[in-house]
Amino acid sequence: MSPLPAPDSIEDLEIDLLLEGLFQRYHYDFRHYARASIKRRLVQAREQMGYATLSALQDAMLHDPGMLPRLLGYLTVQVSEMFRDPSYFRALRETVLPHLRTYPSLKVWVAGCSHGEEVYSLAILFREEGLYDRTLFYATDINPEALRIAEAGVYPLDRVRTFTENHQKSGGRSSLSDYYTADYGRAVFDKSLRSRIVFSDHSLVTDAVSSPRCS
Ligand SMILES: C[S@@+](CC[C@H](N)C(=O)[O-])C[C@H]1O[C@@H](n2cnc3c(N)ncnc32)[C@H](O)[C@@H]1O
Repeated sequence: MSPLPAPDSIEDLEIDLLLEGLFQRYHYDFRHYARASIKRRLVQAREQMGYATLSALQDAMLHDPGMLPRLLGYLTVQVSEMFRDPSYFRALRETVLPHLRTYPSLKVWVAGCSHGEEVYSLAILFREEGLYDRTLFYATDINPEALRIAEAGVYPLDRVRTFTENHQKSGGRSSLSDYYTADYGRAVFDKSLRSRIVFSDHSLVTDAVSSPRCS
């Protein structure tokens, strides 16, 4: 008889089973994500949600769809900033947009838009460069809670200081404060920035690529 598996490999087996269950039950496919990162996140979810084993977490996941948003919160990384990596936005502004200006209409897809910081940055950049009105922005993610926050376009005011510095470093031609209203510790971004953004649920792993239409 072969020896029993070590506890570590039991945990690996539980991860495989949980990810398979998540896919078959809810069509969220994390089976081929970087293993070490997924393992760390699942162990954190198990500990913080109070389950003794990943099998117990899987049992709850399969029988209670209500806990899915919380689990997705652990499995997806929501790190973002407006004008994150200002040199990238500066290169877009100085090198890419002059070329895009030669096209009569444009489509921009932010795949994995998180809470919307990146797509609002692009909307501001395109507005500053006079390209906003001919562009349709498509902002997609698999995390419904992230999409809800993205559509709202409201961020804690204490994050806006970094957003403002990034915007200036990216060569911003206006003041970021032109695009939001401060309200009880929150920055509420201008609705007009959203008029050409389509937010929708889309998985880069399981969904086909489609083209959004202008409203
Ligand atoms: C680190 S955030 C990136 C945010 C933004 N694009 C940026 O660069 O600042 C990664 C986002 O990808 C999303 N994501 C993860 N797997 C995905 C998938 N299969 N399809 C679409 N989005 C996914 C996560 O929910 C998360 O919102």
